Amino acid sequence: MPPILLPPPSLLRVASASSPSGADSVCDRLGPGLCCCYSMAGQGFFQDIFDGEAFKYYADGEWKVSSSRASVSITNPSTLKTQFKVQACTQDEVNKAIESAESAQKLWAKTPLWKRAEALHKFAGILKDQKNAIADVLVKEIAKPLKDAVTEVVRSGDLVSYSAEEGIRLLAEGKFLVSDSFPGNGRNKYCLASKIPIGVVLAIPPFNYPINLAVSKIAPALIAGNAVVLKPPTQGAVAALHIVHCIHLAGFPKGLVAAITGKGSEIGDLLTMHPGINCISFTGGDTGIAISRKAGMIPLQMELGGKDCCIVLEDADLELAANNVIKGGYSYSGQRCTAIKVICVMESVAEELVQKIVQRISKLKVGMPEDNCDITPVVSQSSANFIQGLVEDAQKKGAKFHQEWKREGNLIWPILIDHVTPDMRIAWEEPFGPVIPVIRIKTVEEGIHHCNANNFALQGCIFTKDINKAILISNAMESGTIQINAAPARGPDHFPFQGLRDSGIGSQGITNSIIMMTKTKSTVINLPVESYTMG
Ligand code: G3H
Repeated sequence: MPPILLPPPSLLRVASASSPSGADSVCDRLGPGLCCCYSMAGQGFFQDIFDGEAFKYYADGEWKVSSSRASVSITNPSTLKTQFKVQACTQDEVNKAIESAESAQKLWAKTPLWKRAEALHKFAGILKDQKNAIADVLVKEIAKPLKDAVTEVVRSGDLVSYSAEEGIRLLAEGKFLVSDSFPGNGRNKYCLASKIPIGVVLAIPPFNYPINLAVSKIAPALIAGNAVVLKPPTQGAVAALHIVHCIHLAGFPKGLVAAITGKGSEIGDLLTMHPGINCISFTGGDTGIAISRKAGMIPLQMELGGKDCCIVLEDADLELAANNVIKGGYSYSGQRCTAIKVICVMESVAEELVQKIVQRISKLKVGMPEDNCDITPVVSQSSANFIQGLVEDAQKKGAKFHQEWKREGNLIWPILIDHVTPDMRIAWEEPFGPVIPVIRIKTVEEGIHHCNANNFALQGCIFTKDINKAILISNAMESGTIQINAAPARGPDHFPFQGLRDSGIGSQGITNSIIMMTKTKSTVINLPVESYTMG
């Protein structure tokens, strides 16, 4: 295993130098060692959110500088330099943001549903108009390939509009029940039940989809009449602040949405245990388990990752399976909770499948996100070290490598690790990198067992031409979603999306999120009993 190398100068480029907009950067003004490349083109529209050195936080309808006068730095995964800074908010600022969210929510709940939908449509329009400026930030902040970054923003605009429309459909309806269907009752009680807002929703998205997984929480919450406090991930915070500015410009009431940045160690517990928070929607890692233990009696929606298992049978279309492994396993360098994280392939077709995947891996473009490479640097050095640890463990225990291990800085070349056995960590742990293990199986039951023995039961997939077999295997695989003849994926964004076991609590997807962010309120009209008995 070669030592960890720093990227060669060609890869250690300052991101703004290849900015797709060709924009100037402000990094020169900030002195040596700090490269806060913020596109001047984007600044025109987003200038209010940046104070010349750090990005502001948002509360009570205004962009503010924290009284802490401290900031949190965000490292560009490609250049390994500080790219941006965000405010380190204080506990007092958190309390005030939640207070104004609480009072804004009371009025928002009384705003007609069609007006709430109108505001969301406006937000969606602004978001899509700003797709290039926001994508530019995603490229620099999380090293997402440029075209995928643009897709994320557009998909998010569509998600917001769909949420507005789904909210209109869902929340327009209530229930009318009469009492005499239940034993012992006459027909003298009329129950009117409808959905009402839950209050203030705390939204905590992950680094890999800081826009899409932020709006998948924000839009359902707002259409349902709730306020939102957004705590973006550190890596991805600046992109998230950009979407909050789009919300600001769409004209939502002052205080209804807040975006708080800062150190988890200082404000994390306060946010998640705050009595003013009525619901938490979290996507991320193990932190979610700690949050769920501390949160108390409020609804939780959690997605904590997946060890998504791909079972390939003898009769599978191996071209289709190999194409899906590439798209579903290596896109965004494997940093998706729904990425294929282990392949269980029947021995008789294993060699052919592996060869097809190896061929395709050799064609993947490895490099920088600005150049739209397929494989780009993983998000942090600690993440790259973790992936390397899994690979070294597999190598030590006798796995077969089809490519040479190569790493420069946070950039890891894609590999397929073959003949993986259950004693290897990579068989069970999520690399969140461009590294996929292959387990060769003798029976399909072995594949099902491997899928079910893992705690991160988010998704899985099966490749076979026999639909009956596929459905039986899907029934036996205990994961939140099983895809037949395609790689795991969350979208389309209105589909239910949920993990089983340690992978999560609750179900997401636009419809389920709106329902989860409401409560049911009943009003019962009690008629005099005589009115019923009167013949
Ligand atoms: O990383 C977790 C995301 O929910 C995966 O979403 O399947 O659209 O890539 P995706």
